[in-house]
Amino acid sequence: MANSSMRSGALLDLGSESSGSKSSASLQSAPQVLIRRLVWKIAIATLLLMAVGSATRVMNAGLACPDWPLCYGTLFPSQQMNLQVFLEWFHRLDAALIGVTTIGLVGLAWWHRQDLPSWTPWMATLSLGLIVFQGVLGGLTVTELLRFDIVTAHLGTALLFFTTLLIMGVLLLPFPYSGTGTVGQLPWISTAAAGLIYLQSLSGGLVGSRWALHQCLSVAQLCSVMNTHLLGVLPACIGTLLVIVFAWRTPALYHSLRQLSNLAAVLLVMQMLLGVATFRLHLQVELLTVLHQMVGASLLGTLVCFTVLAWRDRYKLQQVEG
Ligand code: HEM
Repeated sequence: MANSSMRSGALLDLGSESSGSKSSASLQSAPQVLIRRLVWKIAIATLLLMAVGSATRVMNAGLACPDWPLCYGTLFPSQQMNLQVFLEWFHRLDAALIGVTTIGLVGLAWWHRQDLPSWTPWMATLSLGLIVFQGVLGGLTVTELLRFDIVTAHLGTALLFFTTLLIMGVLLLPFPYSGTGTVGQLPWISTAAAGLIYLQSLSGGLVGSRWALHQCLSVAQLCSVMNTHLLGVLPACIGTLLVIVFAWRTPALYHSLRQLSNLAAVLLVMQMLLGVATFRLHLQVELLTVLHQMVGASLLGTLVCFTVLAWRDRYKLQQVEG
């Protein structure tokens, strides 16, 4: 009983010290707890930033600030402020804050490297590289007037940055148990499922950045781009469903893995409903598109967390057997 509350506390303790996680958190060094919490906070801020980015695109606000990195040559364009300028300006501000916090993360990870797993500073540096690249792509989306390939690469890099943070966050969680030994092939299946959801998100980014649904319905152009996204639903769903079914049929599965597979099931259903609603309402309800992007990223994030935890489970078991 105490053990199971410790395990669920380990998964759910993303930023605060809950009573269930106190004992497991105390097994880690203070810098590890500090870095872990910072990583989870940046990950949540990134999810929100992606939602603001999606709202910026769907509200046609991508060029509301015509220059870069400033907006109308100033830090705060009070004269020109309206909803569109606000969205684009806030997107940049939020991104800059995440960039600065990531620099802090890298500094802390190198400073405390003796008390952290050896990969931590390297992975933090990788995340900084991704956010710098993301900033360059963000600038290019403006200077290249929302070129679709750059907009799609901007979404793809944001998802990679988000994924890197989640991998770090899960690897730094306290994990005081030696595997239940039942995880079987699930690490492989969930790795494939996360990859398929990532590809499906990129294809969604292409649909959005090329306004393919609009083009297809109004002038019968770019229907192949839209159809690729619709066909991609099949492998993406099959991959996620396999994770859900295998997890469901696996007895004595690690408690947090079961929670994550249930969450993936809920998010998959929501994502399908939102996709169909976006499609049938012809993008007229902007909130639906933003939610479709957010739930898609959350589904990817859930599968990434599941995958890392499943590999950890398998690796721990091998260590025990070895
Ligand atoms: C696992 C399944 C799915 C994932 C991961 C996914 C992911 C995405 C993502 C990330 C975008 C880009 C959103 C943006 O740029 O703001 C998108 C766009 C889109 N998706 Fe999906 N999608 C899925 C299923 C579906 C389904 C089932 C439909 C419809 C039947 C659908 C219809 C659309 C449409 C119409 C857009 C374009 C929205 C726009 O132009 O703003 N999607 N999708």
